[in-house]
Amino acid sequence: MTAISMDVLVSLCKRRGFVFQSSEIYGGTGSVWDYGPLGVELRNNIKRVWWRDFVQQRADMVGLDASILMHPTVWKASGHVDHFTDPMVDCRECKRRFRADQVDEMAWVHYCEATKGNKFTITAGEACKHCGARRTLCPECGKGELSAPRQFNLMFRTFMGPVEEDASLTYLRPETAQGILVNFDNVLQSTRRKLPFGIAQIGKAFRNEITPGNFIFRSREFEQMEIEFFVNPQETIDGRPADEHWHDRWIADCQAWFVRYGLQSDHVRLHEHDRAELAHYAKRTVDLLYHFPMGWSELMGIANRTDFDLKQHAKFSGKSLTWFDEERKEHVVPFVIEPSAGVDRALLAFLLDAYREEEVRGDKRVVLRLHPELAPVKIAVLPLLKKRPEIVATGHALRERLARRWVTVYDDTAAIGRLYRRQDEVGTPYCVTVDVKTVGDSAKGEAGDQRVTVRERDSMEQIRVPIGELDSVFDRLLGGTAWAEVAAGHPRAES
Ligand code: GAP
Repeated sequence: MTAISMDVLVSLCKRRGFVFQSSEIYGGTGSVWDYGPLGVELRNNIKRVWWRDFVQQRADMVGLDASILMHPTVWKASGHVDHFTDPMVDCRECKRRFRADQVDEMAWVHYCEATKGNKFTITAGEACKHCGARRTLCPECGKGELSAPRQFNLMFRTFMGPVEEDASLTYLRPETAQGILVNFDNVLQSTRRKLPFGIAQIGKAFRNEITPGNFIFRSREFEQMEIEFFVNPQETIDGRPADEHWHDRWIADCQAWFVRYGLQSDHVRLHEHDRAELAHYAKRTVDLLYHFPMGWSELMGIANRTDFDLKQHAKFSGKSLTWFDEERKEHVVPFVIEPSAGVDRALLAFLLDAYREEEVRGDKRVVLRLHPELAPVKIAVLPLLKKRPEIVATGHALRERLARRWVTVYDDTAAIGRLYRRQDEVGTPYCVTVDVKTVGDSAKGEAGDQRVTVRERDSMEQIRVPIGELDSVFDRLLGGTAWAEVAAGHPRAES
C-alpha cells in the first residue's frame, strides 16, 4: 500500500475534478469545498450505497429529509446554544484566533533576543535552542499576546424574515440529528412503528470551526449521514439492556460497512470515549478512527445518547415524546443509539485508501482501486484510432447504449496507453476499446468481428467480448461477480 500524503491527494482531486476550493477565483473561502464532476459522482455513490444498505434494505429503518433551518428553541433544548462551544484565544496583534486547547500543539514563531531578534519556527511544545524560551505569545505572528480563553459558539447564526433582530435569530443546523429527533412522533404516528426502529437522514450541516483543516476532513460546511435508532430501555436482549446490545451491533455494522466498500481493515480502529471525553448526555460513545495522513482521526462516531434528547424536546415543546409499550402497558421514552458519519470524511478515507502508485513496464501508474459501486465512472469507451470514422461511430453508439444503465464516458483525446492511465487515475473499473478488428475495413471489403476489448483496472487483464454480450457482461461485473469468473468465459486479448 502507498502511504499517500494529503498534498498528493489534494493535487489529484483538483487536477482530475474531484474537489475544488470554494470560490477559488476570488481567492477561496475558508474551509469550504466544491465537488467537481467526478467528486459529485463519488459523493452521490457513497450516499446512495449507505442509504440502500442502512435504510432501504432494513425492515427496521425509515428515512427522513428535514429542513436545515429549524425553530431556534430546538438548539436551546439540544444544548447547542449553551454548550456547543470551543474555548478560543485571540492574538491582540495579528487578530488571529486559535482554539485554546490546540495552541500548544502548534509550531510557533519566535523572534530570538539571543540571536539579534532572528526569526525561528519552533516545533510544537519545544523550547528555543538559543535562548531556552518557551512560547508565550501568538504562535503565528510571534509578536502578539493572547487573550484569556473565551467560549465561542460554533453555530452559524442567521435571521428568518425581513428584520434582523433577536426575535428572528436562528441557526444553520450544526448536525442533522436534531431534525430526526424532533420528528420522532411524526414518524411514529405516520408509520405505526414499534421499537426498536431507526430514522436516517443525509444532509448538510454547518459549523464555524475555529481550526478547520486537513482538506475536507474538517470544514465549515459538510454533509452527515446520521441514524437515530430508538430502543426500549426496559427490554433486555441476551441478558443485557437492549440499548447496550444495539449499540454494539451498530458499531460492528458501521465498521464492517467501511471495510466492505474498500477501507483496509487495519486502517480502521475503534476508540472508546473515556469519562473525560464523554458528552454529558451519553452513556457510551465509540468512534471509528481511520489512519489519515495526519494520524488516527475520527471517521464517524456511534453514541448511546440515552433518552436525553427526547426528554429535552418534550420539556421545551410541551409535547409527549414517548412510545406506548402494549405489553407492559406503559409509556416509554426510548433510548437513542446514534451512528453518525460524515460524507466528506468517508469520501476522503475511501480516496486515500484506494490510492496506489505502481510500476508497470518501467512506467509509474497511479490507480484508484475504488470499489466499483463507489467509482465515479463505471465504464470508459475508448477508440483505438480516432481517425477511423467507423471506430469513432461505434464508440459513440456504445457509450450511448451503456450510459442508459451505468455512468459511461467516451474519450478519444489521447493515445490508448494514456487513455487507460487517465481512467486508472480516477478509479474507472472497466474500459471498452473499439479497434480495427471490431469494425473491419469497408474499403478493403473486410468485415469486423463485432468484438471489443474489455480491460479490468486492477489486474489490467483484457478479454474480447462480442458487442451484443456487453450488457450481460457488465451486469455480472458491476453486480458483484469476480473478474476472473467472467473473464474465464471469454478469450484473452493482447495487452
Ligand atoms: N450528531 C452527532 C454528531 O454530529 P459529531 O462527532 O460532532 O457528532 C459526526 O459529528 C461526524 O460528522 C464526524 O464523525 C465526522 O465524520 C463529521 N463531521 C463533524 N464535524 C465535521 C467537520 N467540521 N467537517 C467535516 N466532517 C465533520
